[in-house]
Amino acid sequence: MLILGIDTTCDDTAAGVVEDGHNVHSNVIASQHVAHERFGGIVPVIAAREHTKNISYIVHAALDEAGVTFQDLDAVAVSHHQGLLLSLVVGVSAAKSIALACDIPLVGIHHLEGHIYSNLMGRDGELAFPFLCLTVAGGHTLLLKIEDHGQYTLLGHTRDDAAGEVFDKVARQLGLGYPGGPAVERLAAEGNPKAYTFPRPLINQPHFEFSFSGLKTAVLQTIENEPNANKADLCASFQQAVIDVLVTKTMRVARAHELDCIALAGGVALNMPLRKQLESAATKQGYRTFAPPLKLCMDNGAMVAGAGYFLYQHRGKDALTIEAKANAPLGESGLRYRPATKYR
Ligand code: KG4
Ligand code: ZN
Repeated sequence: MLILGIDTTCDDTAAGVVEDGHNVHSNVIASQHVAHERFGGIVPVIAAREHTKNISYIVHAALDEAGVTFQDLDAVAVSHHQGLLLSLVVGVSAAKSIALACDIPLVGIHHLEGHIYSNLMGRDGELAFPFLCLTVAGGHTLLLKIEDHGQYTLLGHTRDDAAGEVFDKVARQLGLGYPGGPAVERLAAEGNPKAYTFPRPLINQPHFEFSFSGLKTAVLQTIENEPNANKADLCASFQQAVIDVLVTKTMRVARAHELDCIALAGGVALNMPLRKQLESAATKQGYRTFAPPLKLCMDNGAMVAGAGYFLYQHRGKDALTIEAKANAPLGESGLRYRPATKYR
C-alpha cells in the first residue's frame, strides 16, 4: 500500500511516500529556518505563508523522488492534530484535495503519532506492544506507554518547558540561531560537560514528571553573568544536565512499569549523546532501546505516511470533513494519565 504523508504542523513543509509502513521511497522537507531565524523563534503567520507557497512543490517533489504519480497512491495521510493551526490547515487542505481528486482514503493522524510510529517503520515486528516511548520535541517531553495501535497512556511529562524548547532558548541566548538543538550539540562536542554544575531538576523525585525551567534559568543566568564564558563548556554542561534527567527518569519509569523496550522519538532524539547514553543505561540494566533513523526524527512526511499505514489498518479511513486542531488529545480514548504507583 503506497501512502503519501504530509506534515505542516509547525515550520517545516514535509511530504513523503512510504510503502506498507516500512519502505520509505521519499522524504522531502522544505525548511523555513531562514524565514524565522531573525525572529529567534517561529512566527505562526510566516509559517502558514511559507507552507502555502511550498506545499504543492513539496508534494510533487515527494512523488517525483519516489518515482510515482498521484494515480499510484493508495491513500493520503496528514497530521491534522496538534500544532500551529494556520500551518496545519495548509497540509490538511492539500491532503483533502488529493483524497478527493484521486478518490483514495484520507487518514488523519496526531502529529505525535508520526513521531511514535517512526520507531515501528522498517522494523517488522521487532518492537512489540507495549513499549515505552520517550517523546522529546520542541513542544513536548512525554513518557508514553504505547499499549497498542492508537492506545497511549501518559506515564510522565514536563510541568513546564519541553526539552527541545530549552535547547532552543539556550541557543538563542548564546546567539547560535534556530533551531537550537543541533547547534548546541555541535558546540557541546568540543566542551567539558563537567565545567558547570547545572541543576538536574526533580531527578531524585519519586515520580516521572520533568521540569526544565529551573535548569533553563540557571543556564541563562550563567550566560548573562559570564559574558566571556566558554560557550562549548556551557553547552556541554547544559546538554549533560538534560540528558541525565531524561535518562534517569526514563529508566525509572521503565522499571516501575516493567516495560523492557524503550523507544525514543521527536526532534531531540537526533541528539547523539542522548541516544548513546540512553542505550548504554538501558543495556546495562537489561532493557532494549530503539530510536528512529535520523531522517525520521525531525518533523517529516514519511513518518506521517508510516503512522497513516498502521492506523488505517487499525481504525480505517477518515471523512473528508476532518479538521485541523491546534490542541487535540492523543489516542482514540484520549491520553490517560497514570501517575507512578510504585517506585524503585
Ligand atoms: O520534532 P520536532 O522537529 O518538532 C516538534 O514536534 O517540536 O523537534 C524540534 C525540536 C527543536 O526544539 C530542536 O531544537 C530539537 O528538536 N532538536 C534537538 C536536536 N535536533 C533538533 N535537540 C537536541 N539535540 C539535537 N541534535
Ligand atoms: Zn514534531
